Amino acid sequence: MVALLLFYLLAISVSVEGDAFIGVNIGTDVTDMPSPNDIVALLKAQSVQHVRLYDADRAMLLALAHTGIRVTISVPNDQLLGIGQSNVTAANWVTRNVLAHVPATNITAIAVGSEVLTALPNAAPVLVSALKFIQSALVAANLDQQIKVSTPHSSSVILDSFPPSQAFFNRTWDPVMVPLLKFLQSTGSYLMLNVYPYYDYMQSNDAIPLDYALFRPLPPNKEAVDANTLLHYTNVFDAVVDAAYFAMSYLNFTNIPILVTESGWPSKGDSSEPDATPDNANTYNSNLIRHVLNNTGTPKHPGVTVSTYIYELYNEDLRSGPVSEQNWGLFYANGAPVYTLHLTGAGTVFANDTTNQTFCVAKSDADTKMLQAALDWACGPGKVECSPLLQGQPCYEPDNVVAHATYAFNAYYQKMGKSQGTCDFKGVAIVTTTNPSHGSCIFPGSGGKNGTSINDTTLAPSPANSTDSGCLSQYYKCGSFTSFVIFVALILSGIIVL
Ligand SMILES: *[C@@H]1O[C@H](CO)[C@@H](O)[C@H](O)[C@H]1NC(C)=O
Ligand SMILES: *[C@@H]1O[C@H](CO)[C@@H](O)[C@H](O)[C@H]1NC(C)=O
Ligand SMILES: *[C@@H]1O[C@H](CO)[C@@H](O)[C@H](O)[C@H]1NC(C)=O
Ligand SMILES: *[C@@H]1O[C@H](CO)[C@@H](O)[C@H](O)[C@H]1NC(C)=O
Ligand SMILES: *[C@@H]1O[C@H](CO)[C@@H](O)[C@H](O)[C@H]1NC(C)=O
Ligand SMILES: *[C@@H]1O[C@H](CO)[C@@H](O)[C@H](O)[C@H]1NC(C)=O
Ligand SMILES: *[C@@H]1O[C@H](CO)[C@@H](O)[C@H](O)[C@H]1NC(C)=O
Ligand SMILES: *[C@@H]1O[C@H](CO)[C@@H](O)[C@H](O)[C@H]1NC(C)=O
Ligand SMILES: *[C@@H]1O[C@H](CO)[C@@H](O)[C@H](O)[C@H]1NC(C)=O
Ligand SMILES: *[C@@H]1O[C@H](CO)[C@@H](O)[C@H](O)[C@H]1NC(C)=O
Repeated sequence: MVALLLFYLLAISVSVEGDAFIGVNIGTDVTDMPSPNDIVALLKAQSVQHVRLYDADRAMLLALAHTGIRVTISVPNDQLLGIGQSNVTAANWVTRNVLAHVPATNITAIAVGSEVLTALPNAAPVLVSALKFIQSALVAANLDQQIKVSTPHSSSVILDSFPPSQAFFNRTWDPVMVPLLKFLQSTGSYLMLNVYPYYDYMQSNDAIPLDYALFRPLPPNKEAVDANTLLHYTNVFDAVVDAAYFAMSYLNFTNIPILVTESGWPSKGDSSEPDATPDNANTYNSNLIRHVLNNTGTPKHPGVTVSTYIYELYNEDLRSGPVSEQNWGLFYANGAPVYTLHLTGAGTVFANDTTNQTFCVAKSDADTKMLQAALDWACGPGKVECSPLLQGQPCYEPDNVVAHATYAFNAYYQKMGKSQGTCDFKGVAIVTTTNPSHGSCIFPGSGGKNGTSINDTTLAPSPANSTDSGCLSQYYKCGSFTSFVIFVALILSGIIVL
């Protein structure tokens, strides 16, 4: 009874308002990095409401303005020393990267550095100063209530993490960790932690079963039990988060919530990484999202939400290291999903992935001449059925090259079975999960009428109409596309009999 009561008190000492959320990290080591507007379009289509950037890129913050998306920005490690050594530098950073964007862009947190203790130990002595200087600048701007300041840690700063009740922070870092936790406590911020059951599993020499890392159900005799607390652990993620709670309470901090700034699983690896597969990545991320959004909490703090940012939105092909490094993404750079998450009933985030609907669209900021050429190609040599674009046909409006190219690109992409490389058109096309169909213009691949079946009797403008103007559209040069379409139109309307 006493134990239960104690447990209850412990459980409520850490409290986080509201429901847990799932966010996503946006790394940019990508050859064909999509434009900020394309990224935001993908986020919207996937109902992603929370993102973390690894910097404070101006164009990205502008694209995120007025979207309702909550943004964690970062002080990159290479700027940390400067900021930690000068409150003026810190204040300037906040002016340039925060004040310039709020409130239009909803910046909710600043991650100061990334895994500093393990990745950049020589900056550790100024880490807490950097946080304090940034915080002071926010206080001066009266933004400290809405923007929290913290710093993401690698979970490797926690030692002896199983059983969780015996975990503690590597004591080498106590001179940093103690003032840091004091800072987080006094500012109402959270401990930011990167949690990678994939690495725990890989490094465990089979001590950790794959199912335990992937949140798969375990037979009760295989469940991990903490002998000190008798808490049952059904997955590695919870055990690591609880180890962090215990490590904090070991230093007498019991009321700092945890935000998981990175977690994920790679979908591809080299021969030494046999468990980096699409199936495992899908299982991990789908189960993680369900687990977090269920507000389950952890065995130590049931019901205390642990919001989590998935690592990561895009595969970062330019990252060095093992093959897995380049394959943590949920999406390819062109917007196509790497795999289809199993999320039915898990809420709305990434919900669109439950269908396989992807479409190919023209990039809105692409060069008009290149779009024109690609459109001509698709409707010509690409053998796409472009007659719905003719005047009087369902996809004629809006009569501009982006809209018409979008129709043609998508028709080609669907015709080619959405295979890789068929939505590129020299870089002016991008995959989206948002169905571009509008009105009676039904796009191929949207599950509705596919737009390629043609009603002969209402099809084409009369030859007089087309030849009078000489051009079907002001946006088309009277080149191959126009003549091709006229040709098709004539065939279909029975004027030319082959
Ligand atoms: C910004 O995000 C915070 C935290 O989620 C939320 O409470 C607030 O309403 C948001 N503000 C706007 C303008 O959307
Ligand atoms: C920097 O710190 C000094 C000394 O504490 C203080 O006088 C000054 O106002 C601070 N400047 C900024 C920009 O915060
Ligand atoms: C603790 O951190 C120090 C400094 O980074 C490192 O040298 C040491 O190996 C760590 N201890 C353990 C047990 O990992
Ligand atoms: C934590 O608090 C206990 C009891 O107040 C005290 O004995 C102990 O020294 C404290 N530990 C640390 C690391 O401050
Ligand atoms: C959701 O949370 C409840 C307790 O709040 C728990 O009983 C249930 O197992 C959780 N479901 C999943 C899928 O985690
Ligand atoms: C989605 O695509 C995958 C792989 O292309 C396929 O195996 C699966 O059956 C598709 N699912 C649906 C609902 O079409
Ligand atoms: C030309 O096409 C328009 C729109 O389809 C139609 O309204 C008009 O009657 C046509 N004119 C001729 C001469 O066929
Ligand atoms: C994706 O999901 C959002 C939110 O649920 C929805 O508005 C949008 O229409 C969906 N897109 C597709 C292609 O289903
Ligand atoms: C489009 O629909 C027609 C008739 O429903 C069908 O014959 C044709 O194969 C479909 N084309 C594609 C690309 O799905
Ligand atoms: C073709 O168009 C005619 C005239 O507008 C219409 O009556 C008929 O239903 C259409 N047929 C199809 C298959 O859409």
